[in-house]
Amino acid sequence: MTIQETLLEFQQVNYTYPGADKPALAGINLSIPTGKKCALIGKNGCGKTTLFLLANGLYKPRQGIISWRGKPLQYDRGFLMKLRQSIGLIFQNPEQQLVASTVEEDISYGLCNLGLPSDEIQQRVEQALIEFDLNELAERPVHHLSLGQKKRVSLADVMVLKPELLLLDEPTAYLDRPQTRNLIALLNKIHTSGTTILMATHDLDFVCSWADWVFVMDQGQLILEGKPEEVFVQRDLLDAIQLGVPLIYEILSSEAIEKNILEQFHQRLLNLFS
Ligand SMILES: Nc1ncnc2c1ncn2[C@@H]1O[C@H](COP(=O)(O)OP(=O)(O)O)[C@@H](O)[C@H]1O
Ligand SMILES: [Mg+2]
Repeated sequence: MTIQETLLEFQQVNYTYPGADKPALAGINLSIPTGKKCALIGKNGCGKTTLFLLANGLYKPRQGIISWRGKPLQYDRGFLMKLRQSIGLIFQNPEQQLVASTVEEDISYGLCNLGLPSDEIQQRVEQALIEFDLNELAERPVHHLSLGQKKRVSLADVMVLKPELLLLDEPTAYLDRPQTRNLIALLNKIHTSGTTILMATHDLDFVCSWADWVFVMDQGQLILEGKPEEVFVQRDLLDAIQLGVPLIYEILSSEAIEKNILEQFHQRLLNLFS
C-alpha cells in the first residue's frame, strides 16, 4: 500500500472579509493529496476563490491552520516567496496575473524576482514559449491578446516556476470548446509531468471527464469529497445545495448506477480526454 502524502492542508480555517457579517470560510477542513487532478465545486459565493487566496498566502486565516507539506504557513516575505514557487495560482481573470508589457517579459517576471542567473532565465523562458505554444506571440503586448491566449500566458507565467501544486480558478470560464480542449490537453501534460492540480470550476460535465478527486464546498465548508463516481451519486445532497449533477448522471437512471454502468462511462470519458 502506498502512503498518500498531503501537499496542502486546511484545518478548521476561518476567514471573514473586513466588514462582512458572515465568514467566507467557516472552519473548513480540506487536504489536497499529492499527484491528483482535483476539482473544487460549489455554487457561487461558497468560498472557492477565498480558499485559493489563502492557499498561497495572499490572505491570512483569522483562525485555524494552513500547512504546506506538514508545516504551518508563515507570512514573512521569504517564506511567501518560496511558497508561491511551490504553489502556482492562476486567477480567474488573467488581467490580474499579467504584469509586463510583452509575453516574453511576462513569463520572465517571476524568474527575475527569484534572482536566477540570466542564462537560466532565458533558457526557461524559451522552453515555456515552446511548451505553451507562445513562440509566435513572444514579442506581442499582452493586452493585445485574446482571452484564450492570455490564459495560456498566465499558465506559462506560473509553470515556468515549476510549482508542485497548480491552483486554477475557473479556468474554462468564457473559453469556447476548442480553447477548452486545448487547455485540457495542456493541463494533462502538466499533470503527467508531476504537478498536482486543484481546479475550481462550475462545469460539472468537465469535472466528470477530467478530475480523479472532487471536493464539494458549501457556505465556506467542505461538505463532501471523493472520486467523481462516488460524489455524483449523492444526488439528494447535491440538489439540496443547488449544485445538481453532471448531465450523464441526469440521464442515467439509478438502475444504471446500480449496474456499475457509470463506472464504464467514466472510463470512456477519461480515455476521450487523455
Ligand atoms: N473582497 C471581498 N470583500 C467582501 N466579501 C467578499 C469579497 N470577496 C468575496 N467575498 C464574499 O465571500 C464569500 C465567498 O466568496 P468567493 O470566495 O469569491 O466564492 P466563490 O469563488 O466560490 O464564488 C461570498 O459571500 C462573497 O460575497
Ligand atoms: Mg470564485
